[in-house]
Amino acid sequence: MSAATLKVLVVGGGGREHALCWKIASSPLVKEVLCAPGNAGTSSVARSVDVAASDLDGLARLAKDERIDLVVIGPEEPLALGLADRLRTRGHLVFGPGQAGARLEASKVFAKEFLDRQRIPTGAWRRFERSGAAKSYLESQSGWPLVIKADGLCAGKGVFVVESAQEGCTVVDALMEEKKLGEAGSEIVIEEFLPGRELSVMALTDGATLCVLEPVMDYKQIHDGDRGPNTGGMGIVSPVSFVTQRLMRQIESRVLLPALHGLRIEGIEFRGLLYAGLMITEAGPRVLEFNCRFGDPETQAIVRRMHSDLVPYLLATAKGTLEAERPPEWDTRTCIGVVGAAQGYPASYEKGHMITGLAEAGAVPEAVVFHGGTKSDHHQVLTNGGRVLCATALGEDVNVARELAYAAFDHIQWSGKYARRDIGLPRVLRAGPNTELDEPAGAFGGGRVRGEHDS
Ligand code: AMP
Ligand code: GLY
Repeated sequence: MSAATLKVLVVGGGGREHALCWKIASSPLVKEVLCAPGNAGTSSVARSVDVAASDLDGLARLAKDERIDLVVIGPEEPLALGLADRLRTRGHLVFGPGQAGARLEASKVFAKEFLDRQRIPTGAWRRFERSGAAKSYLESQSGWPLVIKADGLCAGKGVFVVESAQEGCTVVDALMEEKKLGEAGSEIVIEEFLPGRELSVMALTDGATLCVLEPVMDYKQIHDGDRGPNTGGMGIVSPVSFVTQRLMRQIESRVLLPALHGLRIEGIEFRGLLYAGLMITEAGPRVLEFNCRFGDPETQAIVRRMHSDLVPYLLATAKGTLEAERPPEWDTRTCIGVVGAAQGYPASYEKGHMITGLAEAGAVPEAVVFHGGTKSDHHQVLTNGGRVLCATALGEDVNVARELAYAAFDHIQWSGKYARRDIGLPRVLRAGPNTELDEPAGAFGGGRVRGEHDS
């Protein structure tokens, strides 16, 4: 395969999809990238098509009419709705699991039951279908904090760390009685709080082989010092200072390979990306969640650091031939990404503010700005979502990467722009020993391609 012949459709319109389009468009195998619906950033590397990511009929029609060779599904919603199944039935090559595999992300209860069945380490938990039982349980507890999770999809906003029964009961009422997150909160999980360092590990898998990508640290809370409510992610660092080869081997053997094995024996075909949201505790890695798609903003760091062409990996995952691929090559430098959010996010926020300074930001050395919630309007770029964009930069070490990422970010302005200022600084662990993280120790050494029975 040498000539640029492929037409690739990326489904979605956030920062992850801009990052994927950017990387896919750089492949010598690719003739054209389409993005549905895309954003103001994707349109510089892909053709935007005005079809929503949840419009399954529209997307199936688009893939057929445009004779798409590979469909890459970005967000969880279309996966949970069964887009991958629908496209595969029609003969398309698809990167992304079917509806059955997407349940790993779409239902916390399903995921926790799967983790327990497969003996994959995770926090102790209970499921509640009624608010009364949940509140009685909270009132009987003495160890705080606890974690309350809405069962369904909530774009990273359905998890609440509570410090008392009173606080917990307020969350239970909001989710189960007031239905603040709709049907997603009609069932909940109450989980043990796990102190430790949080880590995102993503692996491509065709159901038989894993290709583990470089680990990324995401900053989930809205405010500096890991305070305030959870978000989809406010910043990224990769590589991650505390991650050793040994830890990655543990994550493979205790989490990723058992998950792959579990999917197989439960008859779930999974061709796409398996994302393990982990807490690295003193007792080893514990799974906080699985996602069934590329992380956002984690993917922005992955595409900046991946030297290899991503497209052969996406194709091999979709075809089921991942075993034949060599491990990808990585830039050993550090990538930092700073997410700019709209004021008010993750609660309600305004859209439609004019964004300036993008060209100046893009001119900062080693910087690339990925758009999230943006749209074009008469040659202007306007805010159009909660997480508006992510300014990334590569540097020889975390300090250089941080300086460049913030330098790029600070060129960009819009009314109500909000960001954390501590991305890449040492983090203090919550509720654990007051340990500070060490300086970055370098990359874990590249992804590995592993079969189900390796360990
Ligand atoms: P989840 O969607 O389950 O990954 O949860 C969102 C975020 O809440 C995680 O990224 C963690 O920051 C935090 N979190 C979730 N579960 C726990 C837990 N059991 N212990 C501590 N923090 C948690
Ligand atoms: N950044 C967390 C996620 O993609 O779910």
